[in-house]
Amino acid sequence: MLIRIMLHRASHAGTILLRNHQKCSTVWRETRHCSALVYREHSHNIDTVRMEQLLLPPVGDRSVRVHMLAAPVNPADMNMIQGSYPILCPLPAVGGNEGVGEVIEVGSDVTSLRPGDWVVPIDAGFGTWRTGAVCEEDEIISVPKDVSLLGAATIFVNPCTAYRMLHDFQTLTPGCTVIQNASNSAVGQAVIQIAAALGLKTINIIRDRPNCAELIDELQSLGADYVVTEEEEVPKPKLGLNCVGGLKNEKIFFIFSYEGTMVTYGGMAKRPLQIPAVSLCSSCTVFYFLVCTKNHKEQLKAMLNAVCDLMRGGQLSAPHCIQTPFHQYTHALQATVQSHCRKHVLIM
Ligand SMILES: NC(=O)c1ccc[n+]([C@@H]2O[C@H](COP(=O)([O-])OP(=O)(O)OC[C@H]3O[C@@H](n4cnc5c(N)ncnc54)[C@H](OP(=O)(O)O)[C@@H]3O)[C@@H](O)[C@H]2O)c1
Repeated sequence: MLIRIMLHRASHAGTILLRNHQKCSTVWRETRHCSALVYREHSHNIDTVRMEQLLLPPVGDRSVRVHMLAAPVNPADMNMIQGSYPILCPLPAVGGNEGVGEVIEVGSDVTSLRPGDWVVPIDAGFGTWRTGAVCEEDEIISVPKDVSLLGAATIFVNPCTAYRMLHDFQTLTPGCTVIQNASNSAVGQAVIQIAAALGLKTINIIRDRPNCAELIDELQSLGADYVVTEEEEVPKPKLGLNCVGGLKNEKIFFIFSYEGTMVTYGGMAKRPLQIPAVSLCSSCTVFYFLVCTKNHKEQLKAMLNAVCDLMRGGQLSAPHCIQTPFHQYTHALQATVQSHCRKHVLIM
């Protein structure tokens, strides 16, 4: 037992001593292989995603070995598997675009990271649904370890998107109002909290559902000023965040068609965006987070620190989510394509 604990510690610290101990095959495999959720074709059938054992390359001078800790299943991940996302990975591919891992081993020329650091990938297509990875130093960035594991696993795509949208399109001073749809999404929850921290008011549109009152309470407890269903009337905002696209958003367009900006950042309804002529007088724009961040590591670091500060200050929490053991991935993938479902985070 003691020997097993020592070997586990050694492997966790990236020690290669196990190469000469072929009997310890489990630890050997953990160091040299990883389990990963691989898809070999684009399909709406979730069965095409399978857990496979992958061989990891040795750590080079500028590369880093990472043990993945937790990774969410986001709608964009599913769209990539389905082949309907603007960015597609060469096949076969490992699923998952965000998540947090711990650095196990670094190459001799790596300067920005060391073993024990928590890291997140900075571009789409990393393939985070895996137990381990070897990647280049500049593919990942460290995140502070004093935020929660779920917070770190979900920090990059959604809270940073919310942060950018609230800072980059309008000068929003305390008292300004932001309207958004899909307000219960992970982005929506981050918008509510960051807006509240900035002193902004939020009008939050959700789809009607059987447990609507419960969801309204939940969003209000995050700091939402108004929570209304798509059928209800809403007050006049300054900034509109459109996650849904499609026809039902005419309401959003008309509401701020004389002043304010509308930012479209998602297309959950999978319907073409239709803009009434009157709304063309106002400012409408499309936002894509990765395009604005991936080549600016210093700015990215500053933004991550700002988002982490909000987390530490209790002003921003991880989205309400369900933690799913890695081997139960099928359940998490199936749930993500259902309506009214909480986000799932795979725990490796
Ligand atoms: N542009 C960017 O850089 C960027 C960055 C991050 C995210 N996004 C996009 O933002 C969207 C939300 O991502 P997320 O991770 O926050 O999602 P999420 O937490 O999984 O939430 C999904 C949201 O979409 C709503 N929804 C699902 N199907 C819908 C439909 N047919 N019509 C209307 N609403 C529907 C859900 O409402 P119910 O609860 O009622 O089902 C829920 O509010 C995705 O489209 C994602 O790709 C874009």
